[in-house]
Amino acid sequence: MKVHGSVRMPGDKSISHRALILSSLAEGESLIRGILDSEDVASTARVLRALGVDIPPFADAIRIVGVGLRGLRPPRASLDCGNSGTTTRLVAGMVAAHPFSARFEGDESLSRRPMKRIAEPLTYMGARVDFEKGDGLPMTVRGVDLRSIDWDTGGSSAQVKSAVLLAGVIAGVEVRVTEKIRSRDHTERMLRAMGVDVENDHNQVCLRPSSRLEAVEFEVPGDPSSAAMFVALAAMADEGELVLEDVCLNPTRAGFLAAVIRMGGDVSREGVREISGEQIGSLRIRPAPLDSISIGEAEIPAMIDEVPILACLAAGSGVELEITGAAELRVKESDRITAVVENLLRIGADAEELPDGLRVHGGKKALAGTIDPRGDHRIAMAFGVLGAVRGNRVEIQDAKSVAVSYPGFWSDLKRAVA
Ligand code: S3P
Repeated sequence: MKVHGSVRMPGDKSISHRALILSSLAEGESLIRGILDSEDVASTARVLRALGVDIPPFADAIRIVGVGLRGLRPPRASLDCGNSGTTTRLVAGMVAAHPFSARFEGDESLSRRPMKRIAEPLTYMGARVDFEKGDGLPMTVRGVDLRSIDWDTGGSSAQVKSAVLLAGVIAGVEVRVTEKIRSRDHTERMLRAMGVDVENDHNQVCLRPSSRLEAVEFEVPGDPSSAAMFVALAAMADEGELVLEDVCLNPTRAGFLAAVIRMGGDVSREGVREISGEQIGSLRIRPAPLDSISIGEAEIPAMIDEVPILACLAAGSGVELEITGAAELRVKESDRITAVVENLLRIGADAEELPDGLRVHGGKKALAGTIDPRGDHRIAMAFGVLGAVRGNRVEIQDAKSVAVSYPGFWSDLKRAVA
């Protein structure tokens, strides 16, 4: 298989959600360029509209007039968060700081995901969070005047950290969040760009009260999690090279790239610059023989969404991979440990589950079969990449699930290898 040309990655999903949310809370008109037009980001737009914000249809550049801090309106119906954990957890933090309640619901996958992790700090701050069963959706958040919080999440979650930061900034109270390992820091960077006093110190973030968010221009860089699919594809190719343009190179998202480079991958960064507080640049990837690797807990947060493609890269390259300290993967859009291992076994690779990770055993062979992505976009794309490698024949059930984060994935994949 030969790769060629350049592919412009769709906008980063995490930054797209946040650009919508923060613009909504700003004073005045913000401009967002390059927003990701995908199902997950559409869920955030739908929910913000239900809370009284005028969000226009997605386009290359959209303007949003913010309602200001505490300017959201009570929703008339339940907030449908679709498949999106980021929508649910971040908007729960916003609602907690408003004088009304909202009921959150979502699809089957989202309804299975744990919400206690945000219910606990928001309850501590004074809000009320009620579940109808267990600690998943549907969930009702009742907002009040919140108090300050100094919260240790005990884990590493940008969604939990962001829920608390949003609750704090809206309520006008100081908040401090400590994590085991620093998670992606887009919320902090974007709040800073809007004039908020928010400081990161290693794995801790502290936000001081501000009276308003200044409207700004956001430029959404390409999504490194989408780029990871094409980095793996090019690394496994027989010949050619692939350029991925304008990818977000934020260090809290760069764990997969670091792993591929450690495995011997030929990846270079070009034209690195800073835009809207984020480092961005292009990636040039050429095929290269890879070595085995093992990944531990400290490296997981920076590659949390890339574990499925890393496992597929190892299986497709015939190298050993061991991942530990990644139990969090069991509560993503699917149980990604089980989904990856089960599907690798289905197509003839040798892999095993660990309680908090997985192992892929080396040995190069042709991989063939049908995989069930369990409705999980990242599983569908990771196995789609394996299917594009010469000698493999992988069929993906429910291939359209990629629309959650990358609606154009299949056509971009075809173009890259044509
Ligand atoms: C996200 C944070 C991560 C990631 C998810 C998006 C975000 O989850 O897996 O896809 O936009 O904040 P955690 O909250 O577990 O870090």
